[in-house]
Amino acid sequence: MQLTRPVRPATAVLLATVLATVPGLATACSASDGATAPSAPPARAQEGGLPGADGIGDPDFPTDGNGGYDVGHYALKLSYDPAATRLSGTARVTATATQALSRFNLDLHGFTVRSVTVDGRAAGHSRADDELVVTPAQPLAKGARFEVAIDYAGRPEPVRNSSNLGTYGFIPTKDGAFVTAEPNGARTWFPSNDHPADKATFDFDVTVPAGLTVIANGELRGRPVTTGGRTTFSWRETHPMVTYLATITMGRFEVRTGRSPGGLPVYAATDPRYREHLDFLYRTSAKVTDYWSTVFGNYPFSSTGGVIDDFSAGYALENQTKPMYGGFQPDESIIAHELAHQWFGDSVSITRWKDLWLNEGFATYAEWLWSEHNGGTTAARSFQDYYGSEQAALWKYPPGVARPDDLFNASVYVRGAMTLHVLRGRIGDDTFFRLLRAWTGEHRYGNATTEQFIALAEKMSGKQLDDLFDAWLYQPRRPS
Ligand code: TRP
Ligand code: ZN
Repeated sequence: MQLTRPVRPATAVLLATVLATVPGLATACSASDGATAPSAPPARAQEGGLPGADGIGDPDFPTDGNGGYDVGHYALKLSYDPAATRLSGTARVTATATQALSRFNLDLHGFTVRSVTVDGRAAGHSRADDELVVTPAQPLAKGARFEVAIDYAGRPEPVRNSSNLGTYGFIPTKDGAFVTAEPNGARTWFPSNDHPADKATFDFDVTVPAGLTVIANGELRGRPVTTGGRTTFSWRETHPMVTYLATITMGRFEVRTGRSPGGLPVYAATDPRYREHLDFLYRTSAKVTDYWSTVFGNYPFSSTGGVIDDFSAGYALENQTKPMYGGFQPDESIIAHELAHQWFGDSVSITRWKDLWLNEGFATYAEWLWSEHNGGTTAARSFQDYYGSEQAALWKYPPGVARPDDLFNASVYVRGAMTLHVLRGRIGDDTFFRLLRAWTGEHRYGNATTEQFIALAEKMSGKQLDDLFDAWLYQPRRPS
């Protein structure tokens, strides 16, 4: 899904650079961006189209996502058998061609692809690493809307220990699966344009043995339907979502639903082992979402909530509308962090991974704000404590360039948050909090870059802030 906005003159040059390296974002991109472009003469190539690139253009993750099209919607109709750890079904992907396409790729890790159709007609398909290459019977014209249906089955394999990231993706558990896919694990359970630069809406129809619960993003489309010992849950997320935030966490769950004091629907669930924390999870998620709505702007989605599963991930992920907590009892601080991500990361998403501080720095700063709001440690105190810290990583690694082999380095979180605190001091509380709301408003449901944040901060404050952002985001040393 593409939400393009007019480019302000001040950011035009930087943005042009970003667009040039992200083919999926630039409708004007020529086919020459395709790394695998054949050497056929242009006239012929134009008729039959050219292959879409095997990556969306993120230099740090060259084969993540794909070029040549933009996904608008994923409709996933799946069944899962926990005893056999087997996932099977059909993914229908609706997309728009951004170039004339002779063939295109989707990202998919493992599985047997049984058949692929494009607009209902059988299409050729082949596999190479995590790429599924689809050749439609007829080339697709630039601008054409098309539907790819992929029928697939197999034992999902999560990504394990790739570049310091732990285990992520579709993670089978005793009674189901824990599905948390940042940064690029969506491909471990559905064929996708697996990069945050391409957001789309989602429908999930997932069938499991009766007695289990399926928890996906957005809202349930009705009561689960049980026939022949199996239950189908239908969920729908109507707001654009990045692939890594999609989930179908499944298993035995205790569920509590209702409305927050502010009137927002809430869905909270825990593995039975954590049942005594369900009430705390429910109340805290409701309270925090209501509060952040007053600080960051209107809540972007139609419901909020959270899920505690018994898979000991030791981490949480900000899955859209339902953060997932893996095998621990979350405190208020981490709930505040994951729910702040609903604005920073989920609604306003990054365009390339090196800008990850736009997610993690902001969510960490939110933890500091939450503590201060509750009469605990102030944000100024948190800043001072970290500023005095000898934690070498904070000063060695500038947060503005998250490194692909260590994306979630402490600097991206903590020095990212410190950057915001210094900015707040420089432009004042009033402008700072108006800036946060303008940021979430201008890029709601879209994608953004650090350059755009800096430009907006300068515009709203009327100050030149290059020195501040350069020292805090980009220099490998403690700013003075
Ligand atoms: N974004 C998560 C957070 O800070 C952390 C995280 C990174 C993660 N990669 C993950 C969580 C993979 C689950 C799976 O809240
Ligand atoms: Zn986070």
